[in-house]
Amino acid sequence: MWVWLFSVGEGKGAIAHLPSIAASLRGMKLKPSESLKIDTFSMRIGDIEGVELDRLHALSLAVGWPHRAEDWQFLRESGHGFVALDEIGRVLGSAMWFAHGADFATVGMVITSPRLQTLGAGQWLMKRVFDKVGGRDLRLNATRAARRLYLSLDFLPEKTVYQCQGIAHAQTMGGSTETRGDIRALDTRDVPSVIALDAMGFGVRRAALIEKLFAHSAGYGLFKGDTLNAFALCRPFGRGHVVGPVVAESDTEAVAVVRPHVTDHSGSFLRIDTHMDNGEFAAFLSHAGMPVFDTVLTMSMGKRLSDFAVGRATGPMTYALASQTLG
Ligand SMILES: CC(C)(COP(=O)(O)OP(=O)(O)OC[C@H]1O[C@@H](n2cnc3c(N)ncnc32)[C@H](O)[C@@H]1OP(=O)(O)O)[C@@H](O)C(=O)NCCC(=O)NCCS
Repeated sequence: MWVWLFSVGEGKGAIAHLPSIAASLRGMKLKPSESLKIDTFSMRIGDIEGVELDRLHALSLAVGWPHRAEDWQFLRESGHGFVALDEIGRVLGSAMWFAHGADFATVGMVITSPRLQTLGAGQWLMKRVFDKVGGRDLRLNATRAARRLYLSLDFLPEKTVYQCQGIAHAQTMGGSTETRGDIRALDTRDVPSVIALDAMGFGVRRAALIEKLFAHSAGYGLFKGDTLNAFALCRPFGRGHVVGPVVAESDTEAVAVVRPHVTDHSGSFLRIDTHMDNGEFAAFLSHAGMPVFDTVLTMSMGKRLSDFAVGRATGPMTYALASQTLG
């Protein structure tokens, strides 16, 4: 279905008089204009599944995002989405959602091409997403550019996310090395415990996503006896690797499970997205070469984070998101 979304400019005359302009130019009587007004154009909605990966990649590059084609592929396999296409199939916008059960979904990869921004395409895509998520509670992480869009759609601000990144430094990371329990690399036998612990931190069970992340990640866990008390996954993403999700009961435990990833990637680019703005964990990230680079804002529609017991004072907490898109 084609949707005439908006029109830009009013310069029909420039097109209508092209032949005479060309004739004049040939005779060197007229200088070519320095500007051209584009008339109207339309977009149609498409399923993200049907689009070539490099077109999606070009869209995220256009807004300065670090995603690789592989990162788009991972997201496509993990969720659903729409694209906005122009008459010749170029991708000018995207929006995705990731459902976990019948009641909850996260929303992400909401992008409109820079030349279309502030003209209503973001709202148009989001309304298509609302049609599909069917009354689920929603959570997303809003960039500064997107806050107004989501506020206008009745999302409520929750917590700041600190995007911490840089070249990892194992030598300077510091932090207590004394943790009760044993740290070891995770293997596939640990997946059910990782899913259960993630659900306690995130507030919603997301078994399929965690299994998929696990398959793409290296993981370390803190065990007390046979019980998994904390874990951190780390996978290739964007400019290097991203650590997340991380679930632990305390800063000390979170540091203990992230520390081996810093060692593994010392000297290369590492990123972590966290709600923690102070304390031992936040200080550790900075000493490990990952200072705060940017912030986004977790927003929700329907149930609030507190309704999911996210961020409560005791019990397992999410110390790092899987990613800004996935939550
Ligand atoms: C965020 C983004 C998707 C918004 O898309 P868009 O096509 O510009 O959105 P819309 O035109 O539908 O705008 C929706 C509302 O936000 C406002 N808005 C959008 N961009 C704005 C800007 N840069 N400054 C101020 N207001 C802005 C619009 O005026 C509109 O407000 P209104 O409903 O009160 O009129 C787009 O700017 C973008 O792709 N940015 C880069 C990627 C990004 O940050 N994505 C968000 C991920 S969470």
